[in-house]
Amino acid sequence: MTDETIYSHEDTLKMLDSLFREEGQWWDQFYADRDKGIPFFKDSPDENLVEYFDAGHIRPGKVLELGCGGGRNAVYMARQGCSVDAVDISQAAIDWGMERARKHEVQVNFARSNIFEMNLEPGSCDLIYDSGCFHHIYPHRRASFLELVNRTLKPGGHFGLVCFAAGSMGAEITDWEVYRQRSLRGGLGFTEDTLKRFFSDFETIEFRRMRQMDQADGLFGEAFLWTALFRKNK
Ligand SMILES: C[S@@+](CC[C@H](N)C(=O)[O-])C[C@H]1O[C@@H](n2cnc3c(N)ncnc32)[C@H](O)[C@@H]1O
Repeated sequence: MTDETIYSHEDTLKMLDSLFREEGQWWDQFYADRDKGIPFFKDSPDENLVEYFDAGHIRPGKVLELGCGGGRNAVYMARQGCSVDAVDISQAAIDWGMERARKHEVQVNFARSNIFEMNLEPGSCDLIYDSGCFHHIYPHRRASFLELVNRTLKPGGHFGLVCFAAGSMGAEITDWEVYRQRSLRGGLGFTEDTLKRFFSDFETIEFRRMRQMDQADGLFGEAFLWTALFRKNK
């Protein structure tokens, strides 16, 4: 039986997690059918990520991808010469990523884990990338998320983020309402001001909407998403 006594902040966070669905199982079911026409199931990298490399904002280095899903961005970064650790809470997602890495003949270190249960070496990453995970993080875990990114990046390292833009996609409910409803309602939408405030310890290198891409473009792009590139101070 679970010990329901709260001794620490971590115990409080775990208690709050328990109010919501079991994330790993939910995402495993989500990935069970790969042909259901979900835009990000396409085997193409984010258009903003490709631009970061093409523009020289990011150079090949050590990368951690949070919530990597089927590995489309992890595979792209490995092809650019990065050493990539890619993490997802869903085993089905990790299996898909491994298949894609084999298909593209690149090496990616995939691991099934909750991002809040990883042992990460402080100051070890040149880039942390998150495409679509942050808006699924419960508000009580947000401070831990920011701390994880800050601690794991090298000084001068980059954090790339793609997430729902309020007004175009995502639930527009307050953080308190998430707990009243016991749901993120499919992911939270954020305003530019809110995101910049969350990441105010970082320098903003670029902040814009994602460019809408067609199926034929070979890149993923949906205009209902924000894209942001932040840099940790040196
Ligand atoms: C919208 S999907 C995006 C997947 C992938 N980044 C992409 O763009 O193709 C969000 C992903 O975050 C993962 N995820 C959500 N919460 C997580 C957590 N706490 N730890 C690790 N992965 C998580 C889900 O399993 C899911 O694969």
